[in-house]
Amino acid sequence: MSADTAKRQAAEAALAYIEPGEVLGVGTGSTVNHFIDLIAEKRLQADIPGAVSSSEATTQRLHKIGVRVLDLNDTGTLSIYVDGADEANAHLQLIKGGGAALTREKIVAAASRKFVCIVDESKRVGVLGKFPLPVEVIPMARSYVGRQLTALGGHPYLREGVTTDNGNLILDVRGLDIVDPVALESRINAIAGVVTVGLFAQRPADVLIVGSPGGTQIID
Ligand code: A5P
Repeated sequence: MSADTAKRQAAEAALAYIEPGEVLGVGTGSTVNHFIDLIAEKRLQADIPGAVSSSEATTQRLHKIGVRVLDLNDTGTLSIYVDGADEANAHLQLIKGGGAALTREKIVAAASRKFVCIVDESKRVGVLGKFPLPVEVIPMARSYVGRQLTALGGHPYLREGVTTDNGNLILDVRGLDIVDPVALESRINAIAGVVTVGLFAQRPADVLIVGSPGGTQIID
């Protein structure tokens, strides 16, 4: 089974979490793209009065299938947020931001009662940190934040040619062995100039759906 087939399998299982009549939070990335495509294929648009999107790319895709995109300021707390991840550990703590949408993803996850994370099995890890940790930074703070991340033991690299939907830059930090994700999230958040760190440890996923050749696993 290809990783893409496993992603689609996880996305399909997430359809069961859609609450008809409730505004849905929708993340970003290739796994979520399957989720959006499946909503269209199964003609579920009528169940979804609107969605809060975590990126311009997702907004365009939702518009294409006829789902209204709403402003989070107008919706209140969302019941469900569906998104992918770059890594997930056994505590459902995640690394996200491979698609540079981490800030809006973190906001929508925080504003949702249930975060349903959809991944293929290659994303499951014992210790977070093999995937370079994305950190969104204010452009003028790029070098300063880089030095602080180096002091924490990481090797930050500027993601070339990428400006986020918020007009900021991404530093990808290699070489971190993240044994205490909650503490590291706080430490990186405290660096001046950091907008968002792609560690989702203080607000982990509530449900992890893993697509794999052996079938779909649901961990909650
Ligand atoms: C977007 O910024 C990311 O957080 C994605 O959720 C993550 O990179 C997963 O992407 P894929 O579904 O494409 O693997």
